[in-house]
Amino acid sequence: MNPLPHLQRTGGGAQLIVEGAPFLMLAGEVHNSSSSSLAYMERIWERMAALHCNTALTPISWELIEPTEGEFDFTLVDGLLEGARRHNLRLVPLWFGAFKNGRSTYAPEWVKTNSQRFVHAQSHPGHDVLPLSCFCEETIEADARAFAALMRHLREVDAEQQTVIMVQVENEVGLMRAPRDFSAPAERVFAQPVPSSLVDYLSTHTKTLHPALSQIQFDDTPSMTWSDMFGGDANEAFMSWGFGRFVGRVAEAGRAEYPLPHFANAWLVQYDGQPAGEYPNGGPVSRMMDIWRAAAPAIEFLAPDIYIDDFAGVCADYARPGNPLFIPEARRDHTAAAGAFYAIAEHSALGFSPFGIESIGGAASETIAGPVADASLGIQTDPSGLLLAQTYRLLSDMTPIIAQHQNTGAMRGILQKTTPDLGLEIGGYRLQVKFPTPLNPGQPPAGGLIIALGEGDYLVAGFSFSVQFHPAPGSPGEVDFLEISDGDYRDGEWLPGRRLNGDEYGVRLGAAPSTRRVRVYQHNPPI
Ligand code: DGJ
Repeated sequence: MNPLPHLQRTGGGAQLIVEGAPFLMLAGEVHNSSSSSLAYMERIWERMAALHCNTALTPISWELIEPTEGEFDFTLVDGLLEGARRHNLRLVPLWFGAFKNGRSTYAPEWVKTNSQRFVHAQSHPGHDVLPLSCFCEETIEADARAFAALMRHLREVDAEQQTVIMVQVENEVGLMRAPRDFSAPAERVFAQPVPSSLVDYLSTHTKTLHPALSQIQFDDTPSMTWSDMFGGDANEAFMSWGFGRFVGRVAEAGRAEYPLPHFANAWLVQYDGQPAGEYPNGGPVSRMMDIWRAAAPAIEFLAPDIYIDDFAGVCADYARPGNPLFIPEARRDHTAAAGAFYAIAEHSALGFSPFGIESIGGAASETIAGPVADASLGIQTDPSGLLLAQTYRLLSDMTPIIAQHQNTGAMRGILQKTTPDLGLEIGGYRLQVKFPTPLNPGQPPAGGLIIALGEGDYLVAGFSFSVQFHPAPGSPGEVDFLEISDGDYRDGEWLPGRRLNGDEYGVRLGAAPSTRRVRVYQHNPPI
């Protein structure tokens, strides 16, 4: 049997290893309700395969696997495994347990209706709200037992085939519209000093703390309150500890049964200075990431759901040492294809996954029945879907060469921003990436990657940009091409197509994703 899917840490980043080789998740997340019906999933599997996805992110909810306490029904889970296998897809289950988007809508009926045992959060003292309290021990234990049962089942039925490659624990946790949880179990924790394991973690990681936490006071640590230590961030720090412990304990129980990589996802801060509670208070937003890492060591990384415009900024914020980047949710619009290229190349992301993949460009029923945009791909889709399908196909073909260059500094990602060009230094030369078409709302931003295979030797892939080559800064002379070819990467081999030395001279990539092999040299005229 192959070793289980796992993260292999390399050069400050990590790669997901599946069946012994690096695996890039060219993924899509289905709508929340789709995977609750195997019949409904049928056409979605087909659509995902046509989009050249290799991985599906599908919710599995607590209420459907444990409708009665202690009695588990894995029919749906087994059907999802079977459907994914039939379409050559890997699966990343999303555990919709006690928390989903700051709410508790996926908890089973026997949990929802027993508030004596499963304590609700309080948004101010004495005021219960619908979401459960993450500090309630009964809830932690019941959720962890159910998740452990799921992971045990997956080990029993899938350890051989390894269709499931990673697991997301809960979904966008945090408490909405509350400064913090004031329920009795929360108050008990808040009244105690900051736990020593959190203090120890933060005080031994001062050099790498997120700038938002760099002002922490460490005086008199054994008896410091949350306010002493975190000042104005005390409530959010406390909630981050609470949700981090909850998710960490659930993950621990799952990993004990089946040690696949486990991660948690974040609903992001939407604008600078946005108060916690407008986004889920206590979720793994980047400014609270260090608290989460102390609270949830069983969670291997924290992942951003990126719907805001500053895609590149969020990637940089999450791709921190020890936290490989994976984007479980992103916009499924015209920006998706460029996002996939950029995250995977610039930040060595483990993968990329637009949300609501089955309705890329519109409602599922419209697009599945919509016009055939490219018969050769065999998919019926809109332009955003077509571009993503072409991008995924290209990235899939290039996976071995991309994987070889992730986390090495020899690969850069391209994502068009408002500036007309982008300067890069890679492979011994200065490269100027130009965007011939200005960024227009509704038009796909250019996206791509450049790999320096050696000095003056490049692979360029992507769409809607050109590249010029210049001597390294301070170096005299002129640069010209030895070779520009189009072609394809297949199974790690470059298969050259045309040699582009005439009217097509130069490295110019059109609106459909394509690849060039480029070799340049520098001519230094005699002095
Ligand atoms: C983020 C959530 O994590 C998803 O489950 C889904 O509700 C999307 N938002 C909808 O945009």
